[in-house]
Amino acid sequence: MGVSRILVIGSGGREHALCWRLAQSPGMEKIWCAPGNGGIREVAECVTLGGADTIIAFCRKHHADLVVIGPEQPLVDGLADALREAGIAVFGPSRVAAQLESSKGFTKDLCAKYHIPTAAYGRFEEEASAIAYLKGQRFPIVIKADGLAAGKGVIIAPDRAEAEATVREMFAGKFGEASRTIVIEEFMEGEEVSFFALCDGDNAVEFGSAQDHKAVGDGDTGLNTGGMGAYSPATMMTAALRGQVMERIILPAMRGMKAEGMPFQGVLFAGLMITRDGPKLIEFNVRFGDPETQALMVRLDDDLAAILAAAAAGNLPATPPRFRPEAALCVVLAARGYPDVYEKGSEIRNLKAAAAMPGVVVFHAGTVAEGEKITATGGRVLGATALGRDVAAAQQAAYRAVDAIDWPEGFCRRDIGWRAIKRQTG
Ligand code: AMP
Ligand code: GLY
Repeated sequence: MGVSRILVIGSGGREHALCWRLAQSPGMEKIWCAPGNGGIREVAECVTLGGADTIIAFCRKHHADLVVIGPEQPLVDGLADALREAGIAVFGPSRVAAQLESSKGFTKDLCAKYHIPTAAYGRFEEEASAIAYLKGQRFPIVIKADGLAAGKGVIIAPDRAEAEATVREMFAGKFGEASRTIVIEEFMEGEEVSFFALCDGDNAVEFGSAQDHKAVGDGDTGLNTGGMGAYSPATMMTAALRGQVMERIILPAMRGMKAEGMPFQGVLFAGLMITRDGPKLIEFNVRFGDPETQALMVRLDDDLAAILAAAAAGNLPATPPRFRPEAALCVVLAARGYPDVYEKGSEIRNLKAAAAMPGVVVFHAGTVAEGEKITATGGRVLGATALGRDVAAAQQAAYRAVDAIDWPEGFCRRDIGWRAIKRQTG
């Protein structure tokens, strides 16, 4: 079953990386991206579409074989359900299965029921019982808005007074609807890893690992962002650890979702804490990571279109897709001021010189193009990504590309990959 006409939904660096890799699948005829961005247009036709109805009409008119949904919001809104009901093949989970990302309490309850290792927790719908639960807990403790809060709904409270204040703020509506329910959980110590698995409702296969850098500043300082850079593979993920993650976390979640009548099809992105007691789940996401995907896609050594189509059709092969053994590293260039207020509209020059460097791909995350002119429109704007024989070599190549780009209004972290490089050099 060949797929040759694919529509990708989204506009970020993740979607650029997916389109770029899909364009290399054998027999690919046409890729559209809605809405796309200034870099995506080099590998796909960018189209402006509205809600599910216009997407369905577009797919019918243009004979799209497969829709790949990048971001979580359309999944949570039920876009995959609408497409499947219309008979259109889609890579991405249903609205109810997307609760694995849209409700932290849902995921914690699933973990409890299916014995998936995660932080001990309580789930609360009103203030008094949450405050009562805090008595007798150990601190720091983690307080989370249940719903989607643009990555901001997680507070680590150092002591009981701050924990109580946070609980009150959340129930007073700090995150709107998202914090009508909250989860309070044990603080886990360890190193964080992003782990990806492709799922077809019945089966799951590993799809690479990565380490993200969420803080805005060097040395992991400053505000949290969507991710300032990533590298793949996560060098601490030995084959034994990866096996444990599949057996203890991914497969039980898959089977649990099926048993609950909500089979999960798409990519399951497990945010893990590698603790002294082994890997534990921090959270699930129901879509590819950004910027992890930029690093994963330059390493993927397989036919992405065929793999995603197989997952969508419920017949994923048992063997995981192949990745190149080299390391890949992505450095995000963001507009000065991000993740607070930043300006849009500055011009980016010299992208061609950076992109021409060996082993380098510059993915666009927030740009528009007018002819040859590229303008920044987002917080995270570019992802300079490079392959290298190890993380240190990939890091050098990625920063050479960064330094070739002429964009005074942008900035980046200078230490992406530091944990792996520290391990490498001892
Ligand atoms: P989340 O949105 O659930 O991924 O949480 C955002 C960040 O908060 C994670 O990437 C972790 O760095 C941190 N975090 C969340 N839950 C815990 C936990 N139980 N223990 C320690 N850190 C946590
Ligand atoms: N890079 C983390 C995420 O995509 O949520």
